[in-house]
Amino acid sequence: MTDAPRKVALVTGANQGLGLALVRRLCSALGEGSTVYLASRDTGRGEAACAMLQGEGLRPELLRLDVTDDASVSAAAAAVRARHGGIDIVIQNAAARITKDAPQSEQVLQFIETNNHGTLRIVEAFVPLLRDNARFVVVASSFGSLRNLDPRFHARFDAPGLTLHEIERAMDDFVAATRAGTAREAGWPDWINIPSKIAQVASVRVLARDKSEEFRRRGILVNAACPGLVDTEASRPWFGDMSKAATSDDAAVDLVWLAALPAGTEHPYGALVRHRQPLPWV
Ligand SMILES: NC(=O)c1ccc[n+]([C@@H]2O[C@H](COP(=O)([O-])OP(=O)(O)OC[C@H]3O[C@@H](n4cnc5c(N)ncnc54)[C@H](OP(=O)(O)O)[C@@H]3O)[C@@H](O)[C@H]2O)c1
Repeated sequence: MTDAPRKVALVTGANQGLGLALVRRLCSALGEGSTVYLASRDTGRGEAACAMLQGEGLRPELLRLDVTDDASVSAAAAAVRARHGGIDIVIQNAAARITKDAPQSEQVLQFIETNNHGTLRIVEAFVPLLRDNARFVVVASSFGSLRNLDPRFHARFDAPGLTLHEIERAMDDFVAATRAGTAREAGWPDWINIPSKIAQVASVRVLARDKSEEFRRRGILVNAACPGLVDTEASRPWFGDMSKAATSDDAAVDLVWLAALPAGTEHPYGALVRHRQPLPWV
């Protein structure tokens, strides 16, 4: 018999790559009686991933969730609310890839729609479901630092009173500039992943600031995470030398540490965390 509390956890974009490894590790870490949702935008790919984990003796539950689709995100949140009344762990991991086979100007709209507007959809749908002592983690990257951005843009990602929706509007302006071919001249970084990750971290900071009183009182932690370089289909085309890249399973260890910090933990809060250490924002 175990007296460990039964937790409810969800990982988005979990049918492959890092997300799949996060589900695998959460299933083992949370143990019997807990529910770990493997959220996938595609039912077939989600079923295949669940079957693989079941073959390892684990019991994830499949939830269909496309972060670009309001109705899909709302339905997933409604299902969690109906079945459990709340949630203990949310990891927003889903992300679109960038291919080298097409100009980034043709990919930027879908990329930001998924990685940034999608993150906001998950925040808006799942933050209201967070139970006391819940952990909300956005998988970002160490690229997500203001140091990687021209100072002309800093106020759009770091200012008193800045809202989550204003950050998304900054990303819409970035999309428009990239599509128009004026982004570089305006001072945006060339690789579209950099502004996107900065915006994700900025959103976590704004959420942590806005909810500070309530989250502190209820023991809730919200953080962004950098997994380091991880060997996945998404990263392989971009980094010539993958010899130092972690496997997804190894990278999942520190992320699940962050997502399962015990009740009573106060730090990190509103931070970007890599290998268990907060990284500087500026
Ligand atoms: N790999 C690295 O070195 C590295 C480094 C730093 C940060 N990260 C971050 O870690 C996270 C996971 O990366 P990864 O390397 O594991 O990428 P990946 O292998 O491309 O996996 C991304 C996952 O997101 C899903 N996804 C894409 N669009 C979606 C949507 N609209 N709705 C729901 N799910 C969607 C994909 O589903 P499909 O299978 O259906 O496409 C896939 O399951 C990302 O946030 C990435 O930026 C990765």
